[in-house]
Amino acid sequence: MELKQAIELRTSNRTFINEPIPIADLKELVRRAGLAPSVNNYQPWVFYAITNSDLLNKMAVKVAAKMKEIPSNNSIAAKNVLSQVEWFATFFENAPAVIAIAMDEYESVLEMGVQMSHEEINKMRNYPDMQSAGAAIQNILLSAVDLGYGACWLSAPMIAKIELEKIIGIQPPHHLIAFVAIGKPSKVAQQKPKKNLDEIFRLIE
Ligand SMILES: Cc1cc2nc3c(=O)[nH]c(=O)nc-3n(C[C@H](O)[C@H](O)[C@H](O)COP(=O)(O)O)c2cc1C
Repeated sequence: MELKQAIELRTSNRTFINEPIPIADLKELVRRAGLAPSVNNYQPWVFYAITNSDLLNKMAVKVAAKMKEIPSNNSIAAKNVLSQVEWFATFFENAPAVIAIAMDEYESVLEMGVQMSHEEINKMRNYPDMQSAGAAIQNILLSAVDLGYGACWLSAPMIAKIELEKIIGIQPPHHLIAFVAIGKPSKVAQQKPKKNLDEIFRLIE
């Protein structure tokens, strides 16, 4: 598939048919993720492909429990919003596979020479390690389309980051960044409207 077509076809897919993804495809998705640019070619990432549905269910239960801890004013509106958000944070349990992206924090060469903390430098550079992870995740999403899958990037489950790291077995210095849920779509996902080019393009000559 042409890159342009993959970009134009990609949309977040959240419902899947119950068909396992061949390990070769999961490896190919991760191989392409690993080709992404990263700060100083640090490649801060490790990708865990999780296909065990019991484990995914266990993870979703932890996420749902954490969501219940969010303070709410108990209004009907709040309950509706929370139950909606809970679904967007837990639907990954029904995906044939979830790729969990873990990353260790990039230590800039600056850290050896200046009196600034790792956090200060990372913030000053606008979190280049996180930006690198984003590039890798987009490679997964586009490659998923190319290989005939639907996928969705998830950050909402990170509410239970510590619990999820324990279940997945992510150890320091790595920490969990995001999930990508992947599978064959059970229906054609509706593409989201996007801003016109005029709204987002500024030419500075
Ligand atoms: C950083 C990031 C985090 C996201 N987290 C979630 C999430 O937790 N749950 C979810 O259902 N979708 C999540 N999404 C998907 C967005 O909702 C989706 O990209 C957006 O609505 C635009 O739709 P499209 O991907 O179909 O263009 C996330 C997307 C990004 C880029």
